[in-house]
Amino acid sequence: MKVTVGVSGGVAAYKAAELVRALQQQALDVHVAMTQAAQQFVRPLTFAALTGHRVITGLWDSDGATPNAASSIEHIAEAQSCDALLIAPATADILAKMAHGIADDFLTTMYLATAAPVIVAPAMNVQMWEHPATQTNIATLQARGVRLVPPESGYLACGMTGSGRLAESDPIVRAVLEALHRRHDLAQETVLVTAGGTREPIDPVRYIGNRSSGKMGYALAEAARQRGARVLLISAPTQLQPPAGCEMIPVMTADEMRAAVLHHLSQATLVIKAAAVADFRPRIQADQKIKRSGPLTLELEPTQDILAEVVQRRNPGTLVIGFAAETNQPLKHGRGKLERKGADAIVLNDVSREGIGFESDRNAVTFLTPSTAIDLPEMSKRALADRILDEALMLRHPRNVLSEVAANAATSHTPAHRH
Ligand code: CTP
Repeated sequence: MKVTVGVSGGVAAYKAAELVRALQQQALDVHVAMTQAAQQFVRPLTFAALTGHRVITGLWDSDGATPNAASSIEHIAEAQSCDALLIAPATADILAKMAHGIADDFLTTMYLATAAPVIVAPAMNVQMWEHPATQTNIATLQARGVRLVPPESGYLACGMTGSGRLAESDPIVRAVLEALHRRHDLAQETVLVTAGGTREPIDPVRYIGNRSSGKMGYALAEAARQRGARVLLISAPTQLQPPAGCEMIPVMTADEMRAAVLHHLSQATLVIKAAAVADFRPRIQADQKIKRSGPLTLELEPTQDILAEVVQRRNPGTLVIGFAAETNQPLKHGRGKLERKGADAIVLNDVSREGIGFESDRNAVTFLTPSTAIDLPEMSKRALADRILDEALMLRHPRNVLSEVAANAATSHTPAHRH
């Protein structure tokens, strides 16, 4: 999701850098627009370096006279493409302009042009903040749906003490997440996710691997992080960018994955084993590249079953969810696996189905628990990740049938079928 941070001119403009970082920690794509005055306090380069995006600095070319052909429509594009507009710090001046519909620079123009939720975090001298003009402007903006993160009391840059200091990053980030309707229901959880396909070396250049892309595990890590969890992502090699804000622990082999999982297990409240772990590894790994000289027989030995071990060693109350990739009689084999390994649930993948699973961005699965089988129909892996997390949470707080009916009626997501 994309958030545009509008920085207006005040001493607190430098604090916007920390705020941008805090928003990025929530896996948000942050863009920055600055007023002319803000650029007197912080250079746009700071925000360009932090966000990796060009900072929008004006509606006009550098001569200040001619409208810039690209940017004269850019405010509309930016206004339409952002999911939330946060103005922080917001000066008395920009609040006044917003309240009166004055659109004489990029930010105020964008404010008028956006349909996204708008959040303001003011910062100014205490008398400016308390002035009836500012208070009336704030009331006008709030009446129009603008969300306010009020300034805090304390020592102000002007030397006075009172209300007017930019709020801390935490409440501002929370207001942005609320505006985005982001659920924050995993804030108390530490989620350990394994992802990708392990590689078992045959010699220094060859390995036994599998077709797992890691996309489902990474989607789960991203979803859990965005819902407020601390996420430990133990990943075998993939082509994917780690989701923002996750603690990444790279591993290669099944053995390394086992060691990493067991090392971090005591911290986890929810374990999701989405990795495709090799079931066998070469018994002997050659030191040198094996030369081509006639037929070759590889002797394989089984790896240890990490999931079964996790179930045995977890803290009381820690939920453990496994995955199962099946090519025939999925329900029967999935149930067998669930019982054998003792997990709380198994996400059952029928990998014989065309167009979903493995390298695909989409998937359809069955969430199997000892007493239910919930079909989660085909959808993007990212959407599926949220549904899997919903079902996992429900194992901890089972909802009754009536509230389930109410929840299904209230949400528009794709219905799940319970057998
Ligand atoms: N798994 C594991 N350690 C292994 C093998 C698998 O933790 N050595 C986990 C996977 O991460 C997955 C689940 O067990 O969550 C099921 O994996 P799968 O390969 O489908 O099951 P297996 O036990 O290997 O059974 P089989 O290959 O016989 O179907």
